[in-house]
Formats: sequence, C-alpha cells, structure tokens
Amino acid sequence: MTRPTLIEHIRTTERLHPGATGELSRILARLSLAGRMVAQRLLNAGFLGEHGETGIVNVQGERVQKLDELADHTFVRVFESLGSVCAVASEERAKIHAFDDDESQSGKYMVLFDPLDGSGNIDINGSLGSIFSVHQRESIDTPVHERDFLKRGDAQVAAGYILYGPATVFVYTAGEDGPVNGFTLDRSIGEFFLTHPDIRMPEGGGSYSVNESNESKWDDKTKELVASFRQGRAPVGKRAARYTGALVADFHRTLLQGGIFLYPGLTDRPRGKLRYLYEAAPLAKIAERAGGAASDGQVRSLELDPTELHERCPLFVGSRADVEYAVESLR
Ligand code: AHG
Ligand code: MN
Ligand code: MN
Repeated sequence: MTRPTLIEHIRTTERLHPGATGELSRILARLSLAGRMVAQRLLNAGFLGEHGETGIVNVQGERVQKLDELADHTFVRVFESLGSVCAVASEERAKIHAFDDDESQSGKYMVLFDPLDGSGNIDINGSLGSIFSVHQRESIDTPVHERDFLKRGDAQVAAGYILYGPATVFVYTAGEDGPVNGFTLDRSIGEFFLTHPDIRMPEGGGSYSVNESNESKWDDKTKELVASFRQGRAPVGKRAARYTGALVADFHRTLLQGGIFLYPGLTDRPRGKLRYLYEAAPLAKIAERAGGAASDGQVRSLELDPTELHERCPLFVGSRADVEYAVESLR
C-alpha cells in the first residue's frame, strides 16, 4: 500500500474544512519545499565550503553560521509572491520581513521560523532542524506591523518542524484540534510520505533532557528538580539522560518516546535561552496536540503573551505527568 504523501495529506485535511480556501495548504506545501531545499543543502555543505561562520553576529548576539543564513534565505524565498503571506519573522532577522508585491500586502498569514536550529551541530554532522509557526493577522486593512506577530501560542493556525537527521522528517499540526502527523522524506523522489500518523506523546518513560553544565546557574528548586530526574526520584522512576544540543532533535525524541526536555531560566538570563515565538510556542503546540504539556515553569507555554519578537522563555516540555511534576516542584 503506498503511503499518502504530505501534499495528499494536506489536501485531504483541507477537504475536512468546507470553508478552507487552500491558502494554509499552500503555506504548508511551501514549508515542505523549504525543508527539502535545506535538507539538500546540508547534505552537500561540506563539499561546497558552506560550513563555518559568516562573521556576522545576529540579533540574538550569536555568531551566524553560513548555513543559518542560507536556510533563512530559503525560508524567505519560498514565501515571496505566494500572496497569502504578508510577512515573515526569522530568528536570523532583527525585524519582520514584509513582502511588497500588491497581493502579499493583503495576505492574512504570517510565518515565523527558526530556519536552522541546533547550529552548533552543523560542523560535526549532528542533527539539525527548522521550526515554523503560522499565525493569521487580525486585519488586512493596514500594513503589517511587528506587533501583529506578538501573539500567544494558542493562536497558532499551524505549527511544526523539520528534523534533519539520518532521515529528514516533517512533523506538523494545523487548526484548532488537528492531530500531529510525521512524514519522512524519500530523497530519491523528493517526496515526504506519512510514516507517523496521529503521534501521541507516551507517558511514564523516555529520558530527561537538559544541559547539566548550566547547573551552577539554576535556582535551588531547579537544581533539586533535575537531581530528582538524575537520581530516579521523579514519580515515574529512573530515566536516561539525553541531550543533543539541537532542540528539534531533543524534542522529537521526547515526542516519540516520552520524558521531558528542560531549558530553565538561568541566573544570568532569567528567561533562559530559547525564543518563544518560533521555538517554544510551535513545539508547545505540537506537544499539547500529541497529549503532552509545555510550561515556562509557572505558566502554560501557549498562554504566554510575548511583548517582543525575539522574546525568550524557559521551556519545560514533554509527557504531561513529567511537566506537571516539574511545575509542582518549582512552585
Ligand atoms: P539555534 O541553533 O537556533 O540558535 O538553537 C540552539 C538552541 C537549541 O537548539 C538547543 O536546545 C539549545 O540552543 C542548546 O543550548 P545550549 O548549548 O546552551 O545547551
Ligand atoms: Mn533554535
Ligand atoms: Mn537557529
């Protein structure tokens, strides 16, 4: 039996919504195109001298890798003149990027992305990812503005990621209550095929995933929480420690095997490292739609109200019991 392709799946889902215009379907198709283009670029980067740094420091204060920049340009290009997308926001860009062709100026969708996540893994051939979030703006009567992007995660109309590992996997959810589905890329024909239908986050197993070298920068409750996972004192017993340095890879493992990923606040950066709008919020949406949970340690991640485009937030995401245990321990 031939598995459905991603595009077939998107179209089938669209038909379940009588009022659908097909615009969101085309946005998801473009995201899959960008993912395939980035996947191909990663494959050959070593030959093409595309590893290493650009010499630029971005708005995050991080040194931009050549592939960060290439991935960013790819994700911007696929939305040019699509018409339904008025503007995009990228981890790599200080400001939003509005498209200036007439049709796009009245586009109702906004796409936000981390074009290449886990950039520290580029030169060592580690797993990498791209994370995306799709929002609708309230009104198309005025030019799009950065404040249109400052929306809580609950408002996302679609969210997901592409994981560039041994295989390239596209995982997304759309609509109010859409399931989470995963698709694997057949490179020989450039198609994504459904391999992980209706993903559910397991409870009671999996690993705990945190950069333990930050321990000296955690508050006492966070230190005790992580120690309880490390020593098997957490309610669901002993866990393996796993940490790849790429959020998408650590999240995907947590989504499929259960457990918890934590990036807590630090004494020198109380809101932590991860960005809300294009890292934590889309993954929180996926986690909840798969039966898991996500919090900043106090507040449910999808209810946070960002006040700036590159706002950071602590992230505790994974199996519902693990996240609830973490939030309880941090009270
Ligand atoms: P990015 O490469 O997009 O900047 O994201 C890197 C993030 C995330 O992928 C990962 O979980 C985290 O940085 C790792 O941070 P530490 O090296 O501080 O653990
Ligand atoms: Mn990232
Ligand atoms: Mn990035």
